[in-house]
Amino acid sequence: MKAKKFFAAAVIVILSTLFISACGKHEPGRADKIHVGVTYYNQSDTFLNQLIDCFKEQLDLMEKTSFEITVTIRDASGSQRTQDDQVKELIDAGCNVLCVNLVDRADPSEIIDLARDHNVPIIFFNREPVAEDMLQWDGLYYVGAYAEQPGVMQGELAADLIHSDSGIDRNKDGTIQYVILEGEPGHQDAIMRTENAVDTLKNKGIKLEKLSCGIANWNRAQAQNRMLQMISQYQDKIELVLANNDDMALGALEAYKKSNLSESALPVFFGIDGTDVGLKAVADKKLSATVYNDKEGQAQAMAELSAALVFQEGLDQIEFEKGRYIYLPYTKVIKDNVGDFLKY
Ligand code: BGC
Repeated sequence: MKAKKFFAAAVIVILSTLFISACGKHEPGRADKIHVGVTYYNQSDTFLNQLIDCFKEQLDLMEKTSFEITVTIRDASGSQRTQDDQVKELIDAGCNVLCVNLVDRADPSEIIDLARDHNVPIIFFNREPVAEDMLQWDGLYYVGAYAEQPGVMQGELAADLIHSDSGIDRNKDGTIQYVILEGEPGHQDAIMRTENAVDTLKNKGIKLEKLSCGIANWNRAQAQNRMLQMISQYQDKIELVLANNDDMALGALEAYKKSNLSESALPVFFGIDGTDVGLKAVADKKLSATVYNDKEGQAQAMAELSAALVFQEGLDQIEFEKGRYIYLPYTKVIKDNVGDFLKY
């Protein structure tokens, strides 16, 4: 009788173990290594590629000093459906923490359901889910940068330059004719960067005339095309180009190179991010300034949070805002301090 009972109990234990592992469930606090699954919206994005490189460096550093880490990275190629499938695949492969850069920041429900069902925490990064979605489960976190800062800083940088260099107002009408190159519609950063830059310029006493605004989805080639259209419409009238990121500012610059306008018809260009190419363009005085999007800080926060979530240790030492958000500050970059940011 005793043997029968023992056998039955053993079968139950074995079955439940099998069931748990078949579902990919993770037992909190029991992990002995970190397996990070990363998926990001598009591998053509310059800033994100650099941020992910920094994240890998941080994980390598942690592995050398602390514990075993593996990382699997997937490119969602701009498709939310693909990203949903990737999250499933990453969970099935045994990832015990996910870092997700959403394709569509308003559509994370399927990913959240999958992660919650398997008890795998998610660190969303760079593309912030809407607040209600972050409340769907307490295993959700966000790492990014203060969205309202870079536009204000870009506006301040542009205002300082315009005040100090009367040559920027080429037609001497007391007003700066400007165009905007905007990132993806619906992205938390795009509209805020545009609005804050323009409002700040106005608050600093600069009279502005908006000639045009083109959406270029953070992309250099698209920005070049938009800018070529603007040049053909406004010729040498544009005095200032405000771009939501460095890649678009550089695309705009390339459009001028392709146009038949002379050097003296060049406007001033402002970007945001401080990517390698953006910083170089500031050093070469091709961009007047940029605003540094602290990818190293964000990568470090993601790595530390990943470890804390997997090992269920040290979460109380991390400073969160609104309970589960980490935001890093931006910094202004001009030719005088660009050397501090360039990697030699
Ligand atoms: C960066 C852009 C990038 C975008 C992607 C922004 O914070 O400034 O360069 O394309 O994030 O989501």
